Amino acid sequence: MREVKRSSLLVVLFLIVGILAYGGMALAQTSKAALSNEDCVKCHTGPPADIASAGGKHKNVACSDCHVGHPPAVKKPIPQCTQCHTGKPHYELKGCLSCHKNPHTPLKITFGGNVTDPCLTCHTQQIAQLRDNKSKHTALYCSTCHSVHGKVPQCTQCHKPHAADMGAGECKKCHKAHMPKTVTYASDIPSKDCGACHRKAFEVLTTSTAKHKTFACAFCHQAKHKMVPQCQDCHGVPHPAGIMAKFPKCSECHNIAHDLNRFTAAAEKKEAPKEIKKKK
Ligand code: HEC
Ligand code: HEC
Ligand code: HEC
Ligand code: HEC
Ligand code: HEC
Ligand code: HEC
Ligand code: HEC
Ligand code: HEC
Ligand code: HEC
Ligand code: HEC
Ligand code: HEC
Ligand code: HEC
Repeated sequence: MREVKRSSLLVVLFLIVGILAYGGMALAQTSKAALSNEDCVKCHTGPPADIASAGGKHKNVACSDCHVGHPPAVKKPIPQCTQCHTGKPHYELKGCLSCHKNPHTPLKITFGGNVTDPCLTCHTQQIAQLRDNKSKHTALYCSTCHSVHGKVPQCTQCHKPHAADMGAGECKKCHKAHMPKTVTYASDIPSKDCGACHRKAFEVLTTSTAKHKTFACAFCHQAKHKMVPQCQDCHGVPHPAGIMAKFPKCSECHNIAHDLNRFTAAAEKKEAPKEIKKKK
């Protein structure tokens, strides 16, 4: 028992002495060949743990490729990022560590609230859209909306929907974040979404008895906000030429598209010609 204890104590002592001697030796030397990654961890636990958990491609870079030399021989063995990263606009930025806070976890990126220009070293489309389509978003910083890299915000973080039953996912059916004033939509946009602002048009159409009632707003007002169709786009020339010449506007008899066939005062005054008779 005693023998075993003593010998194991000796082994431990030997190891400690060994490590100290080795460490001392290592520190005395500054050549990177003298120390491997495994040696550094004996005294520095943080960086190796960081690299192991989130080192990304820096896992394949030896400690001593970045840290050439060691105190006291080399006072500050801290590399410049640009020793290895050159040749892209991104690598010409100042203060790499202001975003890549920890070089041992290089893809854990954080930045403050007023960042635009650094983003443009990689993303160019969005700024072009923002500048070509001036809106109040053009004046915002990229990071005002994208506070964490890669994260896309909901519009409703900053804006109220147009109607209580309009969900956050619906904004994109009409708006694009980088050109919010250019409102476009697909043919399946629900009429109630238009009705959120055009209550009167919505009510007149949906309570009308004419066939137009069955159509969605976007069936006629296609694709782009404020597009207004001509009756003739769909109906061609529906009545004899003589009548069309005398009454050039459809609305003179048909009222408005949202409420057809409510033959108007105008029509009564002018008297609908005999050629057009109300069908039974
Ligand atoms: C035997 C212990 C020991 C070993 C092994 C060791 N270091 Fe150090 N290291 C230290 C000590 C102690 C300091 C502080 C020296 C000082 O500030 O003068 C230090 C300082 C540093 C610094 C400078 C930190 C700063 O803030 O300036 C770096 C970088 C560094 N070590 C990297 C390494 C790397 C890389 C390895 C492996 C190749 C390594 N060390 C191996 C003990 C060790
Ligand atoms: C890609 C280059 C790179 C690699 C690889 C790298 N480091 Fe570093 N390390 C740096 C830079 C840059 C700093 C300075 C960070 C700062 O100023 O905030 C640093 C700082 C340090 C420091 C001092 C500050 C601290 O965090 O304690 C130590 C110690 C250190 N590294 C050890 C290591 C060890 C050990 C390894 C290998 C497991 C390693 N580094 C791998 C670039 C690297
Ligand atoms: C000794 C050389 C060296 C230094 C110094 C260095 N890097 Fe790297 N870094 C590399 C290599 C090699 C890669 C992998 C490149 C590749 O695969 O294209 C890399 C990759 C990266 C990546 C991508 C990581 C991934 O997993 O995709 C980032 C981010 C990065 N470096 C940031 C930095 C920053 C910030 C600094 C300065 C603090 C720095 N590097 C200093 C060598 C270095
Ligand atoms: C404003 C913040 C910011 C600054 C400052 C910054 N970076 Fe980056 N960097 C990023 C972001 C964001 C990414 C993209 C990460 C991703 O792809 O997930 C990135 C990616 C990288 C990459 C990997 C992708 C690639 O294109 O190579 C490297 C390497 C890199 N940065 C190096 C640097 C260096 C070197 C500097 C300083 C000259 C620097 N970065 C300054 C934010 C920054
Ligand atoms: C070094 C290059 C680099 C820099 C700098 C950079 N990014 Fe990125 N960004 C990327 C890459 C690469 C992706 C991943 C693209 C993908 O997944 O298709 C990405 C993804 C994104 C996404 C998510 C895209 C999606 O489809 O979900 C957003 C949003 C984004 N970046 C915004 C920013 C903002 C804002 C900044 C400035 C603070 C920035 N980026 C800086 C390279 C960069
Ligand atoms: C008003 C908030 C806002 C601002 C400012 C903003 N974005 Fe976006 N960004 C978004 C939203 C929301 C999305 C999701 C797509 C959408 O809704 O159109 C997005 C999507 C992205 C994407 C994914 C690809 C794409 O184009 O859809 C990238 C990359 C991106 N933004 C980068 C940027 C950059 C770079 C800037 C600054 C020049 C910027 N953004 C400014 C809100 C914003
Ligand atoms: C981080 C906050 C933020 C997010 C997210 C955001 N916006 Fe904005 N938006 C603003 C601010 C701030 C203004 C300017 C308001 C003002 O000055 O009255 C604005 C203005 C607008 C305007 C009016 C533009 C003008 O020039 O009149 C529209 C439209 C708009 N946003 C739509 C959207 C849509 C759609 C989304 C989602 C894709 C969105 N916003 C996401 C902050 C945001
Ligand atoms: C059916 C299409 C449509 C949908 C869906 C839609 N919008 Fe709009 N939005 C518009 C139109 C059209 C305008 C412009 C009105 C004008 O010209 O004044 C507008 C204007 C805005 C404005 C500018 C200020 C205002 O109220 O006039 C903001 C902010 C806005 N929308 C945010 C949103 C958000 C947030 C959502 C999702 C919850 C959303 N929009 C969904 C069509 C839509
Ligand atoms: C956020 C509120 C909002 C939403 C949602 C909205 N609009 Fe508008 N719309 C307006 C405003 C404001 C005007 C301008 C009114 C004016 O100039 O008197 C307008 C004008 C119009 C005009 C008239 C253009 C003209 O020349 O007189 C049409 C047509 C129109 N919208 C159709 C639609 C359709 C279709 C939808 C649904 C896809 C829709 N709107 C959604 C606010 C909205
Ligand atoms: C986008 C195409 C489109 C536009 C624009 C359009 N219509 Fe129609 N209209 C239709 C369709 C489709 C019908 C239904 C035909 C059917 O079911 O027989 C219809 C039906 C009618 C009818 C018959 C109504 C009934 O209840 O029997 C009249 C009258 C009419 N349209 C007049 C007009 C007038 C006037 C305008 C312009 C103010 C107009 N339309 C604009 C597509 C359109
Ligand atoms: C059958 C085609 C058709 C449908 C469906 C339709 N519109 Fe219209 N709308 C028109 C035409 C054509 C005009 C031009 C005025 C006219 O000739 O009646 C117009 C005019 C408008 C105007 C401007 C004049 C005004 O009344 O303020 C708005 C706003 C409008 N429509 C919104 C809507 C909305 C919202 C819906 C759905 C609830 C809708 N429209 C459905 C064809 C249509
Ligand atoms: C002078 C009055 C007058 C004018 C102007 C007029 N219409 Fe009519 N329209 C009528 C009458 C009356 C009918 C028959 C109503 C019925 O059959 O119920 C009719 C029927 C229609 C029908 C339905 C045909 C069917 O087979 O069901 C369409 C579509 C139509 N008109 C479109 C138009 C368009 C488009 C214009 C403008 C280019 C126009 N009308 C101009 C009076 C007029």
